[in-house]
Amino acid sequence: GPYGEWGSRKYLMSSLNQSLKRMNLDYVDIFYSHRYDPVTPLEETLQALVDIVRQGKALYVGISKYPKEAAEFAYKYLEERDVHCLLYQGRYNLFNREPEEEGVLQQAKGNGTGFIAFSPLAQGLLTNRYLNGIPEDSRMAKGAFLKKEALTDETLQKIKALNEVAASRGQTLAEMSLAWLLKDDLVTSVIIGASSVAQLADNLKATENTDFSAEELEKIKKIIQK
Ligand SMILES: NC(=O)c1ccc[n+]([C@@H]2O[C@H](COP(=O)([O-])OP(=O)(O)OC[C@H]3O[C@@H](n4cnc5c(N)ncnc54)[C@H](OP(=O)(O)O)[C@@H]3O)[C@@H](O)[C@H]2O)c1
Repeated sequence: GPYGEWGSRKYLMSSLNQSLKRMNLDYVDIFYSHRYDPVTPLEETLQALVDIVRQGKALYVGISKYPKEAAEFAYKYLEERDVHCLLYQGRYNLFNREPEEEGVLQQAKGNGTGFIAFSPLAQGLLTNRYLNGIPEDSRMAKGAFLKKEALTDETLQKIKALNEVAASRGQTLAEMSLAWLLKDDLVTSVIIGASSVAQLADNLKATENTDFSAEELEKIKKIIQK
């Protein structure tokens, strides 16, 4: 729309209204501020979230891709207005551990906010998709979000080594990658992508075994740190 894509009250309110109309719904379960807007005063963005809940257009709110300091402000601002921040949405997977390294996971937990991981399979890298080349129908072949340059020799070696650990657990690499994220209470859930029903079925099996032995965790750590 004409109102940008950041965090102004005008943008948030109008984009939600348009979405509700398109989806033919009265309210959404969760509405995220995606993403932190360095230009709009944070109070304006957060007050819009509060008002959206008060209007009954969202049951819960969340934030996505907020720097740590802005997230802290958001958690407090919302809490003081009785609108608990339900979720923080961030990129987190075996190949990108920033939320862990930067303390975003702990910060969310400390504020009673869940963490939900997007791109939990690193857009398909953490699956069996690229073990033997780049399939024609893959996201990488289409090239929009996942570039061929991402599949370096080093990354391919890591994928193969991780795939072996997964096999020793009786899981596919996709299953193990999701299970690894869900292994403790720092991650509430994952937002999986799937381009087929078979992939979805595979991914759902991840929840059948989210326990890792210390030895497995050490093996995985060594592979991803290389
Ligand atoms: N907040 C944000 O900034 C942000 C940013 C990005 C995404 N998101 C959200 O997160 C969602 C998921 O992101 P994502 O699609 O990047 O997630 P992803 O789960 O990391 O990647 C999904 C891709 O992995 C492949 N795949 C999935 N399951 C597989 C399996 N079992 N075996 C083999 N390959 C498998 C598929 O690739 P092929 O298509 O090649 O089959 C699929 O398209 C998005 O839809 C969006 O809602 C949020």
